[in-house]
Amino acid sequence: MQSVLENQENLNSELIALRDRVAELEVIAARHEDVERKLARLANFPEQNPNMVIEIDLSGHTTYLNPVAQDQFPDLWVKGHDHPILHDLSSIVSALRADRQGYFVREVDVADRIYEQKICCTAEDVLVRIYVHDITELKRAEDRLQQLAERMRWLTQRVVLAQEEERQRVSRELHDEAGQALTALKISLELIRADLPPEAAALRPNFDDVISLTDATHQQIRLLARGLRPPALDTVGLNLTLEGFCNDFARLTHLDIAYTGTETRPLPDTVNICFYRVLQEALTNVAAHAQADRVWVELRCESDRTCLTIRDRGRGFDWQAQATSRPQAGIGLLGMRERLDLLGGWLDIDSVPGQGTCLTACLPLEVL
Ligand SMILES: Nc1ncnc2c1ncn2[C@@H]1O[C@H](COP(=O)(O)OP(=O)(O)O)[C@@H](O)[C@H]1O
Ligand SMILES: [Mg+2]
Repeated sequence: MQSVLENQENLNSELIALRDRVAELEVIAARHEDVERKLARLANFPEQNPNMVIEIDLSGHTTYLNPVAQDQFPDLWVKGHDHPILHDLSSIVSALRADRQGYFVREVDVADRIYEQKICCTAEDVLVRIYVHDITELKRAEDRLQQLAERMRWLTQRVVLAQEEERQRVSRELHDEAGQALTALKISLELIRADLPPEAAALRPNFDDVISLTDATHQQIRLLARGLRPPALDTVGLNLTLEGFCNDFARLTHLDIAYTGTETRPLPDTVNICFYRVLQEALTNVAAHAQADRVWVELRCESDRTCLTIRDRGRGFDWQAQATSRPQAGIGLLGMRERLDLLGGWLDIDSVPGQGTCLTACLPLEVL
């Protein structure tokens, strides 16, 4: 137990650190976009351009280098289009002239640097102008960002899995340990009640109360254990588990829930649990926020995906406005999205104030 919690805490702090790093990298990317905008404005002033501007004629001789190009690749004067930074230029120029395209963009690796090039023909069609921008840092930042995104995804997956494992363990312990202890307690109380001497007969109603309380507590523990990890998932499968959950929920909340579902082919446990949690949260939201009288739940299988829809005819809400004005408003919908996203799925939210809400959660059959 201790190590699972510690593990989870470590994962959480690593996630927070990664999020900070992603924010930093996003600043670098934004700065790069700003530079690109400035460069576009400078295109007509090659002397002032902080990047390289190269011109060569159609026979491949260099005719112009701006100060930066002159500084970085002076040998362009000698090598012309045989210089590694201009490799394969002739074929690109031929294609540009033949197709009358405006310009061609490519990336070229020279030594350990990466250059983005924009190649165009001058208006008279006798010179080729190449704008060269060193994007090595940006590329490295992008690669790092990609690695971080993958790491973050992996960590989030670990957190969700660790949570589910822990819930399963607590659920089993509640069911087995606490459940069996309460059963033993009830039997003992019943035996004592049966053996009460006549002079203690007045205590009988007290025993009745305590025995009822033991029953009620046992029932609550059973419900709690089932909420933590529905044992039905392992025995009767997803469809009947979801139907059972709807029935229990309807009984507890007096909501009128109409369930339709089909048997799915065997799905991974992660997928089953994901649908179960989505249904739990969606129905809890209906009960808490929708003021609905009727709810429709449908589980259906399509050729490449399984989808679960929860539709109520309650008061609805403005999902878009809420997402922008109160991004931290609730973690329920966000949590559903994250869970589905981790398995390559998605959540559609269709809600209009006054017209009810429809949530559709889909997971591809080929989960990640
Ligand atoms: N079925 C629904 N009907 C009406 N409003 C809803 C419904 N589901 C969600 N909402 C709105 O979306 C908000 C965010 O939901 P959620 O992310 O689950 O967070 P929470 O339930 O903790 O508020 C809710 O506070 C509510 O305003
Ligand atoms: Mg909620």
